[in-house]
Amino acid sequence: MVIVKAKNYEDMSVKAANIMAAQITLKPDSVLGLATGSTPEGLYSNLIKKYEAGELDFSKIKTVNLDEYKGLTRDHDQSYYYFMNDKLFNHVNIDKANTNVPDGTKEDGEAECARYEALIDSLGGTDIQLLGIGGNGHIGFNEPDESFIRDTHCVKLTDSTIEANSRFFASKDDVPKYAYTMGIGSIMKSKKILLVASGKGKAKAIYDTVCGPITPSVPASILQLHPDVVIVADEEALSLIK
Ligand code: PGA
Repeated sequence: MVIVKAKNYEDMSVKAANIMAAQITLKPDSVLGLATGSTPEGLYSNLIKKYEAGELDFSKIKTVNLDEYKGLTRDHDQSYYYFMNDKLFNHVNIDKANTNVPDGTKEDGEAECARYEALIDSLGGTDIQLLGIGGNGHIGFNEPDESFIRDTHCVKLTDSTIEANSRFFASKDDVPKYAYTMGIGSIMKSKKILLVASGKGKAKAIYDTVCGPITPSVPASILQLHPDVVIVADEEALSLIK
């Protein structure tokens, strides 16, 4: 694992965007695994700036997102489909037909998850997978569990995740209870992993990910087994690592 220490959120966003930009420059037809949440927003706005400055070309880029809430339509402003268009895709020259997010409106979760996993494989897997991390160590919506789940699957969200995400909804009751998420195996298939973290609330999860035992009770700890992981985190998120 390579750990890149950033001063604060802005610095983390610049440094992580530089890594993503290098990937796009070196392989203009990359398959990017993308993530939602507050943490990657600054990274995306830095990518948009680089695009506007003529430094990046997304015309051949393909994307697959990690996860989506079950039950939210694509025009719901808290759906991850909406987020990706709003925060990145609407602002760069990506072909929307090449962007993929699990379809949360599909009732048949098993069929949708099987379709999504097959899609990732048909693209040859992701060249780089961007990850945030939950305060509980989740990646995508792979919540702490008794075992690692390999493929894209439907997950019941933990109370701590529902609580954490309720800040984006009118009330906690409005947060969907289920989501479709890439599995740990889907994530680990990526050639490279870029994990971003900011703030004190992530310090314990980052410590456990880097220094703790590999355990499904801290899903991100599996990344210790991946050969090419970069963690870009700010001082607060790294505060427990000496
Ligand atoms: P956040 O979420 O970036 O909004 O903190 C990260 C995550 O839960 O994976």
